[in-house]
Amino acid sequence: MDWKINNIEDYHAQYDEALNSPSEYWAKIADSFHWKKKWDSVMSGSISSSDVKWFDGAQLNITENCLDRHLKTQPEKEAVLFVPNDPSEKETRYTYKELHEEVCKTANMFKSLGVKKGDRVCLYMSMVPELLISVLACARIGAIHSVVFGGFSAQALAGRIEDASCNLIITNDGGLRGNKTIELKKITDEALEMPGCASIKNVIVHKRANNEITMKEGRDHWWHELISDVSSDCPAETMEAEDPLFVLYTSGSTGKPKGIQHTTAGYMVWAAYTFANVFQVEENDTYWCTADIGWITGHTYITYGPLLNGATTVMFEGVPTWPDASRFWQVVEKYKISHFYTAPTAIRALMGCGNEHVDNSDLSSLKVLGSVGEPINEEAWHWYNEHVGKKNCPIVDTWWQTETGGILISPLAGITELKPCHATLPLPGVHPVLMNEKGEEIKEVEAEGNLCIKNPWPGMVRTIYGDHERFKQTYLSAYDGKYFTGDGCKRDSEGFYRITGRVDDVINVSGHRIGTAEVEDAIDQHPDVIEAAVVGYPHDIKGQGIYAYIITSKSASNEIEKEILTEVIKCIGPIAKPDKIQIVKGLPKTRSGKIMRRILRKIAAHEFSNFGDTSTLLDPSVVDEIKNGVL
Ligand code: WTA
Repeated sequence: MDWKINNIEDYHAQYDEALNSPSEYWAKIADSFHWKKKWDSVMSGSISSSDVKWFDGAQLNITENCLDRHLKTQPEKEAVLFVPNDPSEKETRYTYKELHEEVCKTANMFKSLGVKKGDRVCLYMSMVPELLISVLACARIGAIHSVVFGGFSAQALAGRIEDASCNLIITNDGGLRGNKTIELKKITDEALEMPGCASIKNVIVHKRANNEITMKEGRDHWWHELISDVSSDCPAETMEAEDPLFVLYTSGSTGKPKGIQHTTAGYMVWAAYTFANVFQVEENDTYWCTADIGWITGHTYITYGPLLNGATTVMFEGVPTWPDASRFWQVVEKYKISHFYTAPTAIRALMGCGNEHVDNSDLSSLKVLGSVGEPINEEAWHWYNEHVGKKNCPIVDTWWQTETGGILISPLAGITELKPCHATLPLPGVHPVLMNEKGEEIKEVEAEGNLCIKNPWPGMVRTIYGDHERFKQTYLSAYDGKYFTGDGCKRDSEGFYRITGRVDDVINVSGHRIGTAEVEDAIDQHPDVIEAAVVGYPHDIKGQGIYAYIITSKSASNEIEKEILTEVIKCIGPIAKPDKIQIVKGLPKTRSGKIMRRILRKIAAHEFSNFGDTSTLLDPSVVDEIKNGVL
């Protein structure tokens, strides 16, 4: 790859080139991939007209770039290293040749059930290699994958299946997580009973946990049985550049989760380009991203990014604290991990378990550390740097979103000067701007405002599945001609960026995006709940915790709180469970009936002064009542 950035001068030169001649710049990058047919135009459309296109007219298949391309040069290189939940179980390794074969067989298995280009396939699985293989198998035949994180409830799964009208779902009998078995098949069965899931004609069950399940005649099929008699020859479907590659649901300020839709060519180029430049992985490195493929990080930086670059990617099935808090470090030692990419919440949790776990492990193989998903606090940054990296490994604090497809602002490992807790500088092709309250672009270098991106980049979300209007409203309307991220951000005098967190009604709990409206809706399902308001508050381990203020028709009791939690688990899943519930008599509302969340956020954070202008409150006395009862 002659475009790989090698030093800081090179970075600045490429940044300027991408800014001044984007078409030429991205054509040069794209040239290093395998295309069935080259593009007619590199970039077209615009943010203002919400019709951004990249490499329009080109034809390709992303799996030929992830797999077939490497068969000529490095068929025996390890592509995937699977580390099972139980440390006593042996790892599984797939060379590029083996992975190619498995993907082709799996693609043929999907085809044998009638799946074709454009169909949506739901993947509700645990972190087993067959999940990564299924993702690629969908891409091989042009089916749109919709991965649903294994921690979501039956109802949440059903909502996602319905929204994308999926034809097929792949699941496991059960998922192994620490000493727990997640009953994935049972939850799938429940989801498929719900109205709206009739589009699912077939279920493929991959056996992992050996837990007891029931198989429905005619609908459910065992993976190992179906795959036993398919061919390993599966030509890659020809995809147009802008054909959808996948849908991934994420939470926003309002309404139900949105199916973020990414397309084939632009996403591919962005995933490959950002992976290569941010992590700077070399020939014999072993790269481990601890995310779950159910989230965007696992899509771009466990699956597509590493494989597009011919790297070795580790898939870890377990959890950081089982059998004990040395698990991550044991994996690093045993498999000589060179690149380790995780979330601040995991760092904080492990930091709290004592230094002996990390200090007693041999971490000398590590070269680069990464952070993603939420702002990393000073203490966690320094602990990561000192105890894990031994002050010898650059930390890449990568800022991005489901919608951005890949990293937008981040240091490049070993190249960009580091500044603790700063995502530092934008990648070439990314032009961040900060906006003030009046909606104007702030020209000063040192500033704080709402973060927008001024230009389209190849990996940018193209639409919300089935709702282009909502896409425009959510991302492209707040600031004319710009993509609005929903994040607040500071820029220092050197132009380094520091993300301060969401400025909308999204809470970031342990790196997971949770919409307050979704949690409120779930709480409202309880028959005794009159009204609920949910906000985030600072939490030592999770970054943000969920605080729910609830008005009930019955008096407060442990019983009702428990029932409310059960309701949230049922509607969304355990990740959305409020950490604190305060039963209140009233909520601070304006005369026009709007809840003043600003006040609720302050109280939840135990900040009892500076509520700002409260003169529009209908009944100011509720504020005192809430303040007095704060948890
Ligand atoms: C937050 C995860 C600070 C941010 C890739 C963003 C971060 C949201 C960082 C997207 C970071 C992600 N520093 N905040 N390095 N990375 N965020 O869609 O608020 O799950 O808007 O994508 O996470 O979350 P998502």
